[in-house]
Amino acid sequence: MRTKLVAGNWKMHGRREMVASLVPTLVSRLPQGPEVAVCVPFVYLSDTQAAIGGARLQLGAQDVSECEDGAFTGEISAGMLNEMGCRYVIVGHSERRARHAESSQRVAEKAAAALRAGMTPIVCVGETREERLSGRTATVIAAQLAPVLALGASLVERLVIAYEPVWAIGTGLSASVAEAAEVHADIRAALAKVSAAAAKTVRILYGGSVKPETAPALFAVDDIDGGLIGGAALDAEAFLAICNAA
Ligand code: G3P
Repeated sequence: MRTKLVAGNWKMHGRREMVASLVPTLVSRLPQGPEVAVCVPFVYLSDTQAAIGGARLQLGAQDVSECEDGAFTGEISAGMLNEMGCRYVIVGHSERRARHAESSQRVAEKAAAALRAGMTPIVCVGETREERLSGRTATVIAAQLAPVLALGASLVERLVIAYEPVWAIGTGLSASVAEAAEVHADIRAALAKVSAAAAKTVRILYGGSVKPETAPALFAVDDIDGGLIGGAALDAEAFLAICNAA
């Protein structure tokens, strides 16, 4: 039985006041069932960790360097994130693949770096609108996953994967339950080829315009093990309602 995970991706939003108001609200009203995480901008990791204290809310980051500590100006290593108390780190978000030309190979290296430091990478995959319309969704997702799955069963078993169709991100247009279920089943099947344990244990999140109204039907699907939430994670009531649906 996989514990559902709802992770908020704050992206480049927030100020210290938001940490000071939103995080304590989440901490005081966390539902019992699912695991809940907030992936905040690097500069707010420390404030967020302090606001979490000993509570069950998990801390996450939004990116990590694939390199070990060294002369890499502007980058943040997995060891640093681990020291800040991060349990999760998002890798391969479509905004980074697009804006920073991150290849799937590099995303896999980032996932490996996070795993080496004892954190859980949330590996994002997803097709663009054009790719979906031309019937290439499954091929694109398989290609994005390939270098990650090549890390081998013992590492793959420790991943979280997030299916985030690019056309659904920040658009208000969620994938339908059937569309999401189909891709999640494909991802589960790809995991099964790595190992039975990976297929059984790896959580596959859905992300892309998840709202309190759409979360219950999505989370009711067997292969959908929670959500990666953008815009709605910036609002305590909306995020908590989504967590409650999980
Ligand atoms: O990583 C979360 C994400 O990209 C979805 O964003 O705003 O559509 O929920 P949003």
